[in-house]
Amino acid sequence: KNVSIIGVPMDLGADRRGVDMGPSALRCACLQEKLEGLGFVVHDQGDLRIERPKNPFGSEGNLKYLNEIIRANAELCGKVESEMKQGRFPLVIGGDHSIAIGTIKGVLKQVERLGVIWFDAHADANTAETSPSGNIHGMSLAVSLGFGHPDLVSIGGEHAAIRPGNVAIIGVRTIDPGEKKFLKEQGVHVFTMKDIDSMGMKRVVEQAIGIASDGTDGIHLSLDMDGMDPSEAPGVGTPVLGGLSYRESHLAMEMIGESRLLVSAELVEVNPILDHCNRTAKTAVSLVGSLFGESIL
Ligand code: ARG
Ligand code: MN
Ligand code: MN
Ligand code: MN
Repeated sequence: KNVSIIGVPMDLGADRRGVDMGPSALRCACLQEKLEGLGFVVHDQGDLRIERPKNPFGSEGNLKYLNEIIRANAELCGKVESEMKQGRFPLVIGGDHSIAIGTIKGVLKQVERLGVIWFDAHADANTAETSPSGNIHGMSLAVSLGFGHPDLVSIGGEHAAIRPGNVAIIGVRTIDPGEKKFLKEQGVHVFTMKDIDSMGMKRVVEQAIGIASDGTDGIHLSLDMDGMDPSEAPGVGTPVLGGLSYRESHLAMEMIGESRLLVSAELVEVNPILDHCNRTAKTAVSLVGSLFGESIL
């Protein structure tokens, strides 16, 4: 029952500045106290040091801040791996979603066959060739599947990627043309808001857990707070209308927690600059509670 919190104050993967303050916002919202109240021993590893870019527009072939993002993710990967080696559950707090690259590679080094549940309004399945923005937070799932700039794919060393058949994305309601093609070709399971509205969150999460656990040794949850509706989670850089409700999101966390298959998790895209009185971080912490077994009765 040991959890390591690893803060990654990174905002270079996103267009809106300020998401680097996410780890602080989540700590202010009593993340550690929440976990301790549920009986976990929490080892807060503090924040990784993210270097500020020398060139404010440091970009390389439609990959903004490529080198800074590579360096941060390489360090994160090593940190996640070493915490897991000590038998601790890694809970990575961001930061923008580009940090999933380092988290997932670090977990993969300990859990060879890993399923992923990607909770997000977006698919983050672009490459430099398809990205409309050049923002690497919109590419991290593709990189984790082994696609994209070779220096991103090889972060933390060459290693087998996650298998597309073991990835389920929940909450998608905006997708770029190149992402659509890529996800179809790869066979990644995408549960859109339409699926959630018609099937209900319970069946969607049951199926997502089935996909992520099929032939794997554990599930990683990548929780982008913009998966929730902006009325519930206003403090995010890329809000999209029509998202998951507070109740649907909690149900998803409860079901994923109850599956007992979770081996790692990350919480990303909380941007306190855009938030109202830290509401999004507080909601995120309440979701962590449900994920870690908090229940009313
Ligand atoms: N698809 C858009 C892009 O590539 C938005 C990505 C948003 N990603 C996120 N992690 N919030 O720029
Ligand atoms: Mn995302
Ligand atoms: Mn290995
Ligand atoms: Mn998103």
